[in-house]
Amino acid sequence: MKKLNIGLAGLGRLGKEYGKNIQFKIPNANLVAVCSLVEEELAYAKKELEVSDTYSNYESMLEHPNMDAVVIITSTNSHAEHIIKAMQSGLHVFCEKPLSIDIENCLKVEEEAKKYSNLIVMIGFNRRYDPSYVDAKKTIIENKVGKPFFVRSQTVDKDIWAPFQVSFVKTSGGVFHDFNVHDVDLARWYIGSEVKRLWSQGGAYRFKEFGDLGDADNTFVFCEFEDGSMALLGASRTSSYGHDTFTEIIGTEGKLTIGNPPSKNRVQISDKHGVRNECNETFYDRFKDSFLIQVQDFVNSVLEGKQPECNLENATKATIVTCAMTESFKTKGIVEIKDIMP
Ligand SMILES: NC(=O)c1ccc[n+]([C@@H]2O[C@H](COP(=O)([O-])OP(=O)(O)OC[C@H]3O[C@@H](n4cnc5c(N)ncnc54)[C@H](O)[C@@H]3O)[C@@H](O)[C@H]2O)c1
Repeated sequence: MKKLNIGLAGLGRLGKEYGKNIQFKIPNANLVAVCSLVEEELAYAKKELEVSDTYSNYESMLEHPNMDAVVIITSTNSHAEHIIKAMQSGLHVFCEKPLSIDIENCLKVEEEAKKYSNLIVMIGFNRRYDPSYVDAKKTIIENKVGKPFFVRSQTVDKDIWAPFQVSFVKTSGGVFHDFNVHDVDLARWYIGSEVKRLWSQGGAYRFKEFGDLGDADNTFVFCEFEDGSMALLGASRTSSYGHDTFTEIIGTEGKLTIGNPPSKNRVQISDKHGVRNECNETFYDRFKDSFLIQVQDFVNSVLEGKQPECNLENATKATIVTCAMTESFKTKGIVEIKDIMP
């Protein structure tokens, strides 16, 4: 069997999970090198991921003699630079969302990628690989709910992660780029049109620290699409009960709802507190399968020489919308997408 040799950049919260998937669960991939700025993470990789070639410098890892592709799970503010350097080293690239929090940077990566049409470059939007979200897309294509004209989607994290998220804001670009980029991608995917104008509202209702950084702990954004469709996209960092990602798609002849209630499984508990379902603790508990399916698709796509749907153009379009969301939140006014284009 032909196998893809992968170098992994970033071994933090999500990078470790990618490392386990690539090394132990993807039959046609080898994890040959890893890179992190954190020494303990490199020691973890040697012991737990069984990788001998570890690097504390990204550029040095790119010179590894036996590497076909790089998987980039580094902090958001370094994605664009890391993608460009990987392409210049002749390596195929998978990078976690978002491509960048800056439209100019997204366009710069797209421009550079034109020089390397032989390389596969994929930006991870894992919800497109979640079986329920995939099933909803198939149902729309089969015209079972008519033409979608409204998407309501939210990304909601459990409150216990908020202190970590405060430190994350500096590199992640804030809640619209970090959380809502998923909902934007889904709304574009299901509606099949681009956002024309939007209006963001929100605030730091519980964790004032986000307000001090110009960010929020709860937001809603109302979007109008070029074809007249609508989306209401929300984000929250204050759920007391768990991770609560939810999406509703209303079509002209029916509706689809994904993740309501946000149950961990199909067990319903009836006891002295009432009748209830347990909830997932984290995004990873909810979307574990999708992350594995997604990176398997990247490996297969490189080995078969086909570009996956989650390409640079798609990622740029999502960032354009999250930039507009951030701008509207700051100015408290309606933002037209055409007005923020460079
Ligand atoms: N798809 C999702 O639902 C989802 C969920 C969580 C995180 N993410 C994305 O994954 C990325 C990483 O998130 P995380 O929570 O794992 O972050 P993290 O802070 O836990 O880890 C970041 C890692 O990147 C490494 N790193 C940073 N800059 C580097 C550099 N210049 N060279 C080499 N290594 C560098 C750090 O050493 C660390 O290992 C972010 O871009 C985030 O948006 C996506």
